[in-house]
Amino acid sequence: MFDVAPSAYRALLGALDLTDLGPRPDDFRAAVWAGLSGARKAIPCRFLYDERGSQLFDLICDLPEYYPTRTETGILARHAGEIARAAGPDVQLVELGSGASVKVRLLLDALERPSAYVAIDISAEHLAAAAARIRADYPGLAVQAVCADYAEAFDLPEPGAGRRLAFYPGSTIGNMPPVEARDFMALWARRLGPGSQMLVGVDLRKDRAVLERAYDDSRGVTAAFSLNLLARANRELGADFDLDAFRHEARYDERRGRVEIHLRSLRDQTASVGGRVFAFRDGERIHVEDSWKYDLDDFRRLATAAGYRTRRVWTDPADLFSVHLLDVAE
Ligand code: AVJ
Repeated sequence: MFDVAPSAYRALLGALDLTDLGPRPDDFRAAVWAGLSGARKAIPCRFLYDERGSQLFDLICDLPEYYPTRTETGILARHAGEIARAAGPDVQLVELGSGASVKVRLLLDALERPSAYVAIDISAEHLAAAAARIRADYPGLAVQAVCADYAEAFDLPEPGAGRRLAFYPGSTIGNMPPVEARDFMALWARRLGPGSQMLVGVDLRKDRAVLERAYDDSRGVTAAFSLNLLARANRELGADFDLDAFRHEARYDERRGRVEIHLRSLRDQTASVGGRVFAFRDGERIHVEDSWKYDLDDFRRLATAAGYRTRRVWTDPADLFSVHLLDVAE
């Protein structure tokens, strides 16, 4: 998208009204080294979202097999009025993992006089472009872009006045195991403060075939998304992964309620990453992502344990996906 060197790009970010607390190239190298050194190889899924990965993720959202985006958008569109009434006027909208900032428009259009929009995302280029589009389309709205891993500690900017409404769509919370998800939600309850609310999208348990198709689509976009981790290592770290020698796999563990995503080595091979060499056996896997699914009551309990009171829960007619409006408990 932007054809400039990363360092030059970083220099431009200041001009884009963006607070940059995002990962450094060194963080990625350290994570890949650590992740490939253990007995079970893994690369943390937050590194899926460089500029290329964020573009691929936007393509995933439009795939016929990937039901979450379209289903959640339908729920938000149908209930935006109710959400806005429950949230009240003059709220500061804070989005966790704002991506292309598409769904948030449904809220911005429905809310009464939102005072500010704070977009937080790990992909700086993507974030800057999305925030610029929101600024152009919502004149008068204070828009603040923060490039950060929203699970880490940082000062939440307060560009507007009023209570906060956090928006955490997409079932991104499903990337964490439930105990971590609970702690994460509790962290955000404290960060948001009393009187604030959280609107969170949560994908539901369902038929294995539907899930495995959603995470291994016929066009191979999701495979390209996973493999982009290795492609990114080749680009940023001068690694020499043979992308044709790894295969994307998505498998639903029904007992745990999670889709597990791996890259499987198709032969004995080695790859060098930033001067270190890693060996992969034929059939050995690199874990790249989990996507946890919930029952409605399980998530209600999680929210309660994290310090929220559930105000409303909406689902689609087929019960594929849910949206929970939570009050931070006093
Ligand atoms: C962004 C974590 C919600 O788990 O559905 C989609 C990521 N990975 N296809 C999901 C993803 C492969 C997505 N989340």
